[in-house]
Amino acid sequence: MRTRVSSLISVSFAAVILISSAPKAHSQAVAQTPPMGWNSWNYFAGKVDDKGVRAAADQIVASGMRDAGYIYVNIDDTWEGQRDANGVLHSNSKFPDMKALADYVHSKGLKLGIYSSPGPKTCAGYEGSLGHEAQDAKLYADWGIDYLKYDLCSFIPAVMEKQAPNDKPAQMRLMVAAYDKMAKALKATGRPIVLSLCQYGWDNPWEWAPALGGNLWRTTDDIQARWQSIYDLLNEQKGLAPYAGAGHWNDPDMLEVGNGKLSLAENRAHFSMWAMLAAPLLAGNDLPNMKPEIRDILTNRDVVAIDQDPLGHEARYIYSRGEVEVWARDLKGGAKAIAILNAGSDVWSTHPFRFALAPLGLHGTQHAKDLWTGKELELTENMPIELRSHDILLLRIGEPK
Ligand code: GAL
Repeated sequence: MRTRVSSLISVSFAAVILISSAPKAHSQAVAQTPPMGWNSWNYFAGKVDDKGVRAAADQIVASGMRDAGYIYVNIDDTWEGQRDANGVLHSNSKFPDMKALADYVHSKGLKLGIYSSPGPKTCAGYEGSLGHEAQDAKLYADWGIDYLKYDLCSFIPAVMEKQAPNDKPAQMRLMVAAYDKMAKALKATGRPIVLSLCQYGWDNPWEWAPALGGNLWRTTDDIQARWQSIYDLLNEQKGLAPYAGAGHWNDPDMLEVGNGKLSLAENRAHFSMWAMLAAPLLAGNDLPNMKPEIRDILTNRDVVAIDQDPLGHEARYIYSRGEVEVWARDLKGGAKAIAILNAGSDVWSTHPFRFALAPLGLHGTQHAKDLWTGKELELTENMPIELRSHDILLLRIGEPK
């Protein structure tokens, strides 16, 4: 016969099992690691269509990106058509059959994302969801949509400024309520749909978006395919690390890797830093015409593993020496990732950067892997490191000392 104490222990043990196997809230079930995939906007903008999305999905599979973790194929703005007499929204002529497109994308082992606004119009002037939130959420679920990017845009003049002129706090409350409304509408569909907030970081979304079920929130204005834009966005992430974690992520905007005139070093540095930031990795390039060296960057498994590390600890800025800066994040199992970034535009490394280990809490020689060359390295206190302008050294230390 069991003693009283042991039966008490087994009762509480059973309760723990019950709690941990209870269905998780909508926001917790998806995006347990930062979402990975592709989005149409950064390269195609208004030129996105059904054919282009299918081609992107095909290429995600053919390039090995799917196997590296890129799952979401996200249609951004300009897919929207008109509402019918019942208020049901239809896609425009660029997307003749959204359900068939979702079926196609799903048949490739991928997921489909879509875009809307809480306002009457999207940023590009297409139909928004104002007054049709539940109807649109149901439509997305019926189509088989897995991800919604919800972009503030016309909600600002149409609702915030109209209903609360000159009252910024009241405007912010209206904004939060609009996101809450769509979060509830998505939840009511019963389909797990990632909710991505796009309101440019207004009123510190990291403080309130997780509670309403937001899975990621933009922390900044739009990214552009220029180094200065990427570096400015990186700087705006300082201090945000404590807010990221399983199911809820800071979003410094989608990737520009392979776009514009970014050099290979800049593409590598951009991708490395977004991985350090536990940022969503949403490629934004022309996948069917992707150069092999760009594919190699996007599919570097070691770098993707930093982004997707199950601990979900976003990197913190640690220190700078001149224009070279050092960021670090803790990884599962006691490992550490370190990024050393030469942010200087006119720094040619004639005087190498001296790498200090102590500010990172490291003592003595460390064994590390260079995640871009794959080589093992020995790190010593104040060792000289040569980095070209806008290039990066991304390291993983398996057993930091
Ligand atoms: C912007 C958004 C971009 C893109 C664009 C579409 O507000 O930040 O990422 O979605 O709208 O019109």
